[in-house]
Amino acid sequence: TTARLFFDTRLPVGAVNRRLFGSFVEHLGRSVYDGLYEPGHPAADERGFRTDVIELVRELGVSAIRYPGGNFVSGFRWEDSVGPVAERPTRLDLAWHSTETNEVGLHEFASWLESVGSELMLAVNLGTRGTLEALDLLEYSNLASGSALADRRAANGREAPFGVRMWCLGNEMDGPWQLGHRSADDYGKLAAQTARAMRAFDPDLELVVCGSSSAHMPTFGEWERVVLSHSYDDVDYISCHAYYEEKDGDLAGFLASAVDMDRFIETVVATVDHVKAVKGSDHVVNLSFDEWNVWYNERFEKVDKITGVDNWPVAPRLLEDAYTVADAVVVGNLLISLLRRADRVTSASLAQLVNVIAPIMTEPGGIAWRQTTYYPFALTSALATGTALTTVIDAPGYDSGLYGEVPLVDAVATHDEQAGRIAVFAVNRSLDEQVELEFAVPAGYAPAGARSLWDDDPYAVNTLADPERVGMRDNTTLHADETGAGRIALPPVSWTVIVLE
Ligand code: AHR
Repeated sequence: TTARLFFDTRLPVGAVNRRLFGSFVEHLGRSVYDGLYEPGHPAADERGFRTDVIELVRELGVSAIRYPGGNFVSGFRWEDSVGPVAERPTRLDLAWHSTETNEVGLHEFASWLESVGSELMLAVNLGTRGTLEALDLLEYSNLASGSALADRRAANGREAPFGVRMWCLGNEMDGPWQLGHRSADDYGKLAAQTARAMRAFDPDLELVVCGSSSAHMPTFGEWERVVLSHSYDDVDYISCHAYYEEKDGDLAGFLASAVDMDRFIETVVATVDHVKAVKGSDHVVNLSFDEWNVWYNERFEKVDKITGVDNWPVAPRLLEDAYTVADAVVVGNLLISLLRRADRVTSASLAQLVNVIAPIMTEPGGIAWRQTTYYPFALTSALATGTALTTVIDAPGYDSGLYGEVPLVDAVATHDEQAGRIAVFAVNRSLDEQVELEFAVPAGYAPAGARSLWDDDPYAVNTLADPERVGMRDNTTLHADETGAGRIALPPVSWTVIVLE
């Protein structure tokens, strides 16, 4: 089977924003406690942060990290998480039916971020709290000095402001599961009011209004329209969230998940631009895909969910999916979808980072390791620099069931003129067929190498017992002839990156 790929360095889609390679840390399960934070672990630093995890996060190449939730944020009082640790209250977390000790809070997390070299992106609670509390957190975080809240931050050990640029106006407010869930009309008004108040403090903040929790929400489309009809000129981004999982052994359908993400993005862009037109606005609202991943949510709902009035564990093992090769291929493909619309998707967060639906896993007192999904993220973050290029694929189709007939191969190319590099990211969704991918190597470039993620067993995983079972392999089939005709063989159920220099 052969597929052909067309791209041209003269046809850019848009600049690849570094924020596309963001992630997400929520106070959920073992993400923070027994994850990135484990005092007493042999690799812990003086603050209690695991240096082995810090190393892995740095290598992953994560830009901004969204914090502290997620569903958690809708029941969160930010004041609980600052000040002397011994005086911080222990609270129930109703979203995940757990106990939050507040041992790690804003200051600690910001200090951890400095070690990993990532930017802080904060979410405010618009579920059970409102505009005033959001303003307080903003002033506490960003005002240099001269107010009670700024002084309180300094007294809590942080003289310089945190300088948080990007703020999420609540989380998944369209979801009936969300504490303080509202109608689009009510949320749109609250978000607009909060955004205006926050901008009264600093007009240059980057504000994200909540879009849909998935493209399959009953309110999808209308939610975006109504929310933006209230808030369009007050925000910079609307959020999108999407999780995918293989259901009922339907691997072929699952491998086409990125088709759903593509349609999601196109629909939200169209809706945003519709509101823009109706308002006659010059302002551009872009997409912040601030939760995306593979998540075996069905297993969580049926097996892991915690219940019981007297049962509120601290840092339970929740949402600890072990990712397969196929999952990593889907993650790589979702990154291709994000890059394809780099002109409008200018921020994204892989949900999440450590232990909870995460590329990095840890064992208390033991090792930290890379899941399969770590690899496509790390390589895309490292190599998808410069601009995304218009990329056209001519590939045979297959019946994905879920999304109809879809191409066997999906791909996107990026071009970094300064680095003198073109990178092509490609997946082969076939369950059993290798695909020969043909493309023209632009003048001045030559194949510099290719790496693929594949395995005879698409369900192979990395585990505590066998943490390096799956990794990247050199793909030695890449070559180009003297006319610049390039070729590479893509194994079945695989993700590949090709570098031309
Ligand atoms: O990432 C896990 C959860 O998924 C988040 O808390 C929530 O926002 C989403 O439903």
